[in-house]
Amino acid sequence: MNRKNIVILTGAGISAESGVPTFRDSDGLWCNYKVEEICTHDALDWNRPVVIDFYNQRRKQLDEVQPNKAHIELTKLETKYNVNIVTQNVDDLHERAGSSNILHLHGELRKVCCTSHPDDHVFKLETLKHGEKETWKQGENDKCPICGDLLRPYIVFFNEAVPNIEPAVDLVQKAEILIIIGTSLQVYPAASLMYYAKSDSVKYLIDPKAEPSSRVSNLTIIKEKATIGVPQLVDKLLKE
Ligand code: OAD
Repeated sequence: MNRKNIVILTGAGISAESGVPTFRDSDGLWCNYKVEEICTHDALDWNRPVVIDFYNQRRKQLDEVQPNKAHIELTKLETKYNVNIVTQNVDDLHERAGSSNILHLHGELRKVCCTSHPDDHVFKLETLKHGEKETWKQGENDKCPICGDLLRPYIVFFNEAVPNIEPAVDLVQKAEILIIIGTSLQVYPAASLMYYAKSDSVKYLIDPKAEPSSRVSNLTIIKEKATIGVPQLVDKLLKE
């Protein structure tokens, strides 16, 4: 029997109930920090200690949180569907929940990369810091073990290309079902992904602030928090 393809596009909202702050809600990170002082390549040059510290704080916090019911419920879909998760999140909560196929659009907190070879010289922090006390932490002057250039967080900064957008578009174009969870859909190109979905594909948007869209066909809005909306939808899809 042919399994249907499900693509799940997630944003910060799915991790909010784990205790990871979102970006643009009233208590979000970009309300307390200026994006241009943290999340740009320029900022890494002139504000390096603050940028590295910002991401180290996010890493520390990640060690203190767990996947929530929404992350975990999504893994159940794999019993009946081909499931691909395309996430804007830099946390590893989908991985820790047990999802199999995860594409990170905006990078991964637990990794660092070389400033000169950001696509090729990529390392898990824990492997670089093997034997050290704080294996989660990037040092301000840590160097690439391959070429000796400075390391940077493995994060796609604003105004940088999003290398994984092409495989993400490919997945969305093949999906019979598209589920979008917990994103304000304000950051491009991620926000444009839903427009690549087949017009006859079935689409769901789970977000307490979701608004109907006349630009997207077959869209069902589930105006709930992820830990409420995701289990309801997973239950429905497993019964179909
Ligand atoms: P935002 O902070 O922009 O949006 C979070 C969304 O989550 C909002 O629509 C909220 O309504 C929703 N939300 C809040 N709590 C929720 C809950 N419990 N359940 C479900 N939804 C909830 O975050 P993103 O859209 O993910 O990029 O932001 C996109 C990108 O902007 C991020 O990947 C990040 C940021 O700058 C980088 O850092 C490169």
